[in-house]
Amino acid sequence: MSEAAATLSEARRPAPPPAANDALMVLRGVTKTYGGRGGEVVALSSIDLDVRRGEFLTIIGPSGCGKSTLLQIAAGLVPATSGSITLEGRPVTAPPRGIVYLFQQYNKSLFPWRSVRSNVAFALAGKGLDRHQRAKRAQSFLALVGLEAFGNHYPWQLSGGMQQRVAIARALAAEPAALLMDEPFSAVDALTRVEMQALLLDIWRQRAGLTIILVTHDVEEAVYLSDRIAVMGRRPATVERVLETGLPRPRDPVATREDPVFLRHRGELLDDLLGRGLVRR
Ligand SMILES: Nc1ncnc2c1ncn2[C@@H]1O[C@H](COP(=O)(O)OP(=O)(O)OP(=O)(O)O)[C@@H](O)[C@H]1O
Ligand SMILES: [Mg+2]
Repeated sequence: MSEAAATLSEARRPAPPPAANDALMVLRGVTKTYGGRGGEVVALSSIDLDVRRGEFLTIIGPSGCGKSTLLQIAAGLVPATSGSITLEGRPVTAPPRGIVYLFQQYNKSLFPWRSVRSNVAFALAGKGLDRHQRAKRAQSFLALVGLEAFGNHYPWQLSGGMQQRVAIARALAAEPAALLMDEPFSAVDALTRVEMQALLLDIWRQRAGLTIILVTHDVEEAVYLSDRIAVMGRRPATVERVLETGLPRPRDPVATREDPVFLRHRGELLDDLLGRGLVRR
C-alpha cells in the first residue's frame, strides 16, 4: 500500500473507542498476519476489545476465525502484527504475571510423571512456601474442584474430565487475575460438559475479582456462562458485536437454559454464526 493510501485508510478509520473505566485489559486495532511458505494468512484484521475486571467474557466465532490467535495474543504468548494490548495499563509484550492460559487440549499439559497433588503444587513454586505448605495448599485447590481424594493418583489414572479439573486447580493455585481458557470443554461428553460449566461458575463466584475469558464455538455454552459475549466474524476476523447476556446469577443448568432471554440470545447468536444475523435483524 502506498503511503498516501495508508494515510487515507487511517483517516477513514473511526477513532478507537475510549477504554472502559473498569477495564483490566484493553486491545486496540490488533491485527495478526501469519507468514508462511503457502503465503500470508490474515487471521485478525482489527480487533478493539475491552475486558472488564472480574467479568466472565466469552469469545465466540466460526471455526478458523482467529479465536485462539486472539486469546494467545491477549496472553502475551503470540505477538500481534500491529495494534496494542495493555493489562492494567501496561503493554503486554510477553506472558504477564497474573494471567494463566489454558490450552485447547489442556489435559495434555499435565506432567504424567508427577502425582495430581504435585502437578497442582508446581504452580506454587516461588511463592516462598516449604514443601509441606505447598502440599497443603495444593490439597485445598484439589478440594475446590472435588478431587481431594485423588492427590496421590497420576493424571493418566483419571478420566478426561477429572484431568481437566486438575488443570483448572493448578491454574487457580497460581492465583491469577485472569484465566484465559481455549475451548476447555470441547473434548468431554455432553453431561460432563454441563457439570464442568457449573463447577467453573461456582469457582468463579467464590473467587471474587477473577476475570475469565473463554473461547468457544458453542452458542449455549457462551450464553450460559457469560456476562458478555464477543462475536467474531469470518476471517479476516474482527469483533462484530459484543452483547450483554443480562441473565441473572446464580445460573442453573436447567432453568437458565429455559429462560426466554437465554433462548433469544441463543437464536440470535446462531443466526450470527450462520452468517445471516444481520439479514434477519
Ligand atoms: N501458527 C500459525 N501459523 C500460521 N497460520 C496460523 C497459525 N495459527 C493459526 N493460523 C491460521 O490463522 C487462522 C486462525 O486460526 P485460529 O487457530 O486462531 O482459529 P480458531 O478460531 O481458534 O479456530 P478453531 O475454531 O478451529 O479452533 C487460521 O486460518 C489458521 O490456519
Ligand atoms: Mg482455536
